Parts: sequence; structure tokens; C-alpha cells
Amino acid sequence: MSDATKHVVLLVGSPKGLEKSRSSRLARPVVDGLERRGWTSESLHLHAEVATEEGRERLLGAVDRADLILFAAPLYVDSLPAPAIRGLELIAARQRTDGVERAPRFVSILCCGFVEPSQNDTCQRILQRFADQAGFEWVTGVSLGGGGPISKRARSALGILTEALDLEILVPDEVDRLTRKPAMPRWLYIIGGNVMWRRWAKEYDARDRLRDRPYRRPDS
Ligand SMILES: Cc1cc2nc3c(=O)[nH]c(=O)nc-3n(C[C@H](O)[C@H](O)[C@H](O)COP(=O)(O)O)c2cc1C
Repeated sequence: MSDATKHVVLLVGSPKGLEKSRSSRLARPVVDGLERRGWTSESLHLHAEVATEEGRERLLGAVDRADLILFAAPLYVDSLPAPAIRGLELIAARQRTDGVERAPRFVSILCCGFVEPSQNDTCQRILQRFADQAGFEWVTGVSLGGGGPISKRARSALGILTEALDLEILVPDEVDRLTRKPAMPRWLYIIGGNVMWRRWAKEYDARDRLRDRPYRRPDS
């Protein structure tokens, strides 16, 4: 990589992959924005890459080329999907042992299903520790909650993030302000969730079984 051209590597840690996942759809505008500013990019799906020796080599090669690593993943049980963790473990093990001096910057974008973006906080701290141990420069973690399509506010935040990453300046607090607020009130999210459950139940002819508790202990 020449000094003039910067390279961003997008690592997607959702089983839904590079096209269909929400994680990828959130990270894509950042990558596209950096490309418009003259950056080059490559995108890898961690689930696919960690599954083969070739993929694992490709992953580590991509990390070597990166000036910026953009990690985008969903929250799974307050952590990450296992193949995403495996990918990070591979990177950390290699970065620790082969004395790479250059420190790529590292940004994470996490999305979760519950409406509060703060659900991602613990996982962001885990990723910050990962970045430290892998020898990356932690920039920021952007957290988005669930509920509907990607909001206007989130899009603005990603635009500001892109500009800060390109200019290599501190990420403005505005990004946090725009993404911290739940995309909709809790009560509306619950109503929407109930509508969805009823729709799915109808589809599977299980409308009268929504209150079933198949795992309840007989004595409870
Ligand atoms: C197995 C599994 C575990 C999940 N665990 C959580 C969780 O702990 N908290 C949460 O808010 N959302 C959770 N979710 C919801 C996902 O984080 C959410 O749907 C996310 O937007 C999916 O992103 P993706 O399309 O990039 O995979 C979980 C989803 C699945 C399938």
C-alpha cells in the first residue's frame, strides 16, 4: 500500500453475510464514503473466512494491508457470534507474536435486537480490550439498537464517523449523541414485537399456542 492511498478492511461478523446482514448494511456507507474520498477497500465475511485454512490466511493478509479495520457485527447473547470471536482470536494471536509495528486503527459497529443501543456496551468494552491486545489503535465503538430500518439519525452519525476517519481526527461526540437514543419508544417496540409474533404464529398455524411454556418445570 502506498503512503497516499489508505486501505479499509471491513470484517463482517454476522452469519447473514456481506449482503443481507444489518451489520453489513450499517458499515457499508462508511466504506463507500471512504472510497469516495480515495480509499481502497476489501470486505470479508468472518464466518466464511475462519472455516478454511485459505480463508484464515486471507483474513490475516487483509489485516496486514489495513490502515483501518471496520468490524461490524450483531450482538449475540450480549457477546458476538462464535465465528466472529474465532476471527478476532486468530488476529490477536498473530498480532501478538509476529511483532508487527504498524498499528491499524480499529472501529466497531455493533447492532442489537433490543431497542436500547446500550445493550451493546459490554461487547464494545470486550472489543476495546481486543484492540489493545491485538496492537490496534482503538478509535470508537458505534452501537445501534433494534427496531425498524436504519434511521436518518444513524445515517447522519455514520456520515460524521466517515469524515472523522478520513481526516484522522477524534470522532465527534455527535456520533454518540445521534446513535445513543433508541430508534423508537419502548412501548412502540413491544407493540411491534407482539404484532410480529402474531403474524409468525398465523403463518405456522400456531395462534393458540403463543402462551405455551414447553420448558416450564412441572413444579413451577
Ligand atoms: C442467536 C441470537 C442471539 C441474539 N442475542 C441478542 C442479545 O443478547 N441482545 C440483543 O439485543 N439482541 C440479540 N439478538 C438480535 C440481533 O443482535 C439483531 O437482530 C441484529 O440486528 C442482527 O444483525 P445482523 O443482521 O447483522 O445479523 C440476537 C439474535 C440471535 C439470532
